[in-house]
Amino acid sequence: VTIYVPRDAAALALGAEKVAKAITQEIVARGLDVKVVRNGSRGMFWLEPLVEVETDKGRIAYGPVKAGDVGGLFDNGLLDGADHPLCLGLTEEIEFLRQQTRLTFARCGIIDPLSIEDYRAHHGFAGLEKAIAMASADIVKQVTDSGLRGRGGAGFPTGIKWKTVMDAPAGQKYIVCNADEGDSATFADRMIMEGDPFVLIEGMAIAGIATGATKGYVYIRSEYPHAIATMRQAVEVARAAGVLGQSVLGSQHSFDLGIRSGAGAYVCGEETSLLNSLEGKRGIVRAKPPLPALQGFLGQPTVVNNVISLASVPVIMDQGSEYYKNFGMGRSRGTIPIQIAGNVKHGGLFETAFGLTLGEIVDRIGGGTATGRPVKAVQVGGPLGAYFPRPLFDTPFDYEAFAAKDGLIGHAGITVFDDSADMLKQARFAMEFCAIESCGKCTPCRIGSTRGVETADKIMAGIEPEKNKALLADLCNTMKFGSLCALGGFTPYPVMSAMNHFPEDFAPVPLIEA
Ligand code: NAI
Ligand code: SF4
Repeated sequence: VTIYVPRDAAALALGAEKVAKAITQEIVARGLDVKVVRNGSRGMFWLEPLVEVETDKGRIAYGPVKAGDVGGLFDNGLLDGADHPLCLGLTEEIEFLRQQTRLTFARCGIIDPLSIEDYRAHHGFAGLEKAIAMASADIVKQVTDSGLRGRGGAGFPTGIKWKTVMDAPAGQKYIVCNADEGDSATFADRMIMEGDPFVLIEGMAIAGIATGATKGYVYIRSEYPHAIATMRQAVEVARAAGVLGQSVLGSQHSFDLGIRSGAGAYVCGEETSLLNSLEGKRGIVRAKPPLPALQGFLGQPTVVNNVISLASVPVIMDQGSEYYKNFGMGRSRGTIPIQIAGNVKHGGLFETAFGLTLGEIVDRIGGGTATGRPVKAVQVGGPLGAYFPRPLFDTPFDYEAFAAKDGLIGHAGITVFDDSADMLKQARFAMEFCAIESCGKCTPCRIGSTRGVETADKIMAGIEPEKNKALLADLCNTMKFGSLCALGGFTPYPVMSAMNHFPEDFAPVPLIEA
């Protein structure tokens, strides 16, 4: 019998370590022959710690389990998948999971993240093996044909980026994985690194073979200690297994990886500032051009891709570009791991083909707010994303559809707010966030964000509200078109959407007569 208890940071934050200890103690005390596997998360955070038991019928889930529940679970026949108030039935049949299309996250929460045998037994390295047998240009073509676009947020076609690097003549090229995942409400990168690290390693090795890069780095934010530890261990295991090193899976290709951690700056998720940080310099944005694809890490041609972009490559190489491309809508092809967070009943990771409407995601899948109050706004795309009001909930999850409504899907994090949210405060928060995180290189962002906070404060205090609202809009316009990078350039999205969609929150506060 095998019992699965997640080692994912979200599950640990909810007490998974204590649960695992209690389970081990029960096994020893009862003299049972049971194996405990520490898996990744299935991504249903309201059910974590989610304990699973392997049975003849399949894996049975129990959750959320507290350490104090463990003894009772064993007494009630946990090992036979018996009924119990915490029993959720077959894991795969849980509605939230059953409705998903898991391509990138196919193994996450299922396998032992650090067992390379487990990884292989679940189609692991099938994509890499196919890539090894192909010419670089054909690998790049397959990725281009799949329609995969950058999952970090900008949505730039991954294959085209790879082609630029492949065509650039250089002695040394690099693959840099952006795992700085700084957006609020996002955790897809973390979940895959903790739950299925080999898929990222496989994706990076394929990128290396395709572009002629023999070295790679994963730049992980320092706030992710578990992901950093898991990736470091996974790299060691992959080296020992001959996946990384002089001869990738016995081929003539060489590729090796290093894991680096950031120092807590949001702007280091911006690719050029990430590269500076990786080089040991201050994390300040570089002007583009030159593109990192031509002059990136140490001035050499560099692929900078988000974790999810790279982790989606193995399935594309294994199943083919047509298979992947057949999911999605318009120019948004394949699947996207939507991260549902904030004031929501069912928070977690939902991988699905592009095209679900925002309303379906929030109301049907997320189950509405956790407080039970009406949904007022949903911020899509992190702290730089726009706030969507209910009248825009028919917007399908698609890069172009969101852009057409003055929003962005970004890294696909959504934060739900109920009707107690004050959108003027949220607008002020966006400006304050930008002021704190600004790298200081350009004026609209460095100075504009601080002026933005002051202007929001004036509106809040009822000081010349009409004049100050116009000033805030003007400031946003300057930041949007005058900033060097997305931090200053996108801060106007939350501010302007709050102001346009929720004008009542920006109305002057009526003076109370003494
Ligand atoms: P961008 O549009 O300037 O560039 C997109 C990517 O395409 C870059 O990697 C760029 O180097 C590359 N590129 C452009 N033209 C190319 C060419 N001809 N050949 C090869 N490569 C080429 O966008 P940027 O500034 O890199 O990213 C902005 C996005 O980042 C925003 O949309 C935002 O949603 C997202 N973002 C994500 C965060 C996260 O936590 N994941 C945090 C903050 C922002
Ligand atoms: Fe730096 Fe802000 Fe300018 Fe970006 S927009 S380069 S973060 S000052």
